[in-house]
Amino acid sequence: DWTPDSFVEETVADLKAKLGDDRVILGLSGGVDSSVAAVLLHKAIGKNLHCIFVNNGLLRKNEFDSVLESYQGMGLNVKGVDASEQFYAELKGLTDPEAKRKAIGKVFVDVFDAESKLVENAKWLGQGTIYPDVIESVSATGGPSATIKSHHNVGGLPDYMKLQVVEPLRLLFKDEVRRVGASLDISPNILGRHPFPGPGLGIRILGDVTAEKVRILQEVDHIFISSLKEDGLYDDVWQAGAIFLPIQSVGVMGDERTYENAVALRAVTSTDGMTADWCHLPYEFLAKVSNKIINQVKGINRVTYDISSKPPATIEWE
Ligand code: XMP
Repeated sequence: DWTPDSFVEETVADLKAKLGDDRVILGLSGGVDSSVAAVLLHKAIGKNLHCIFVNNGLLRKNEFDSVLESYQGMGLNVKGVDASEQFYAELKGLTDPEAKRKAIGKVFVDVFDAESKLVENAKWLGQGTIYPDVIESVSATGGPSATIKSHHNVGGLPDYMKLQVVEPLRLLFKDEVRRVGASLDISPNILGRHPFPGPGLGIRILGDVTAEKVRILQEVDHIFISSLKEDGLYDDVWQAGAIFLPIQSVGVMGDERTYENAVALRAVTSTDGMTADWCHLPYEFLAKVSNKIINQVKGINRVTYDISSKPPATIEWE
C-alpha cells in the first residue's frame, strides 16, 4: 500500500543508490513541488544537493527573503540570487504576454546557467516535476508547466541541460506531494501554498512591466492574500491573486478628482487548475479588502472582482 512514509523511505533509498556521491543542482521556486523534491534529495545526499533560488523581481511581497529564510531553516544548502534588475531590463517595453513569458524564461535560463556553472562537478539536475506536468508536456497542448521545462525552447540548450535529470516526484499527484511533504515535516506554510505561476507578477501586470507597477501590485496582492488568511478563507481557495489593469479611472478623494489605476482581484476554486470556478467570497470580505486596498495603496482608486470561470476564461489574465 502506498503511504507517504513508505514513499519517502523507498525514494530516499533509490536516490542514494542512483546518485552516490554525485552533486545535484536544483532550482527552488518557493512552491510545494520543488520544495518537497529538495527535501527528499537532501535527505538522500545532504550537502551534495545545491539549491538555487532566483529572485526574478516578480515574486510576492517579501517572498524572496522569507522563503529563503525558511529553506535555510530546513537545513538546505541554498543560494539566493537576486536577479530582479536583469528581469526588469529584459521586460522593458514588452506588452505581449508570450513575449513577456519568453523574456522571463530567457533570463531565468541565463541566470540559472551561470549559477550552475559555479557548482563544480555537478552531474544531475533535480526537478520537482509531478505527474500532471508529465502528462501536460506529453499532451503537447502548449499548456503551462510549473517546471523549468516550459522555458527550454528558448534557443540553444543551456549548459545545465547537459546534466542528467532526476525527478523524484514524477509519479505523484499534488495531494500526494503535500502528504509526502507533511511526512517530511515541511511547514504547512509551504505545503499549503496556492500555486503561483513561474513568470509571477509579470503576467499579472497587463501591458508592460515596471518595477513601480510590481511594487504597487505586491501591496495589493499582500492585502488580499493576508486578508484571506486572517479570515480563514485561504485554504478554501485553489488560487488567488491580483491583476494590475492597464486602465485608469476617475475617482474622488476629499475635494480632489483622482485619475488612477484599477486592479482586479481573482480567486478560484479548482482541483487541478484545468477547470476552475470563480470563488463566491463573502461580500463583506470583498468590501473590506477593497477598502483596505484603496485606502492603503497609493496609485489605485478602483477594485474589481473577476467573476469568470474557466473555461472559457483562464485563471491568469495573460
Ligand atoms: P491558466 O491561466 O492557464 O493557468 O488557467 C492554469 C494554472 O497554470 C498557472 N500558469 C503558469 N504557470 N508558467 C507557470 O509556471 C506559466 O507561464 C503559467 N501560466 C499559467 C496558473 O497560475 C494556474 O495555476
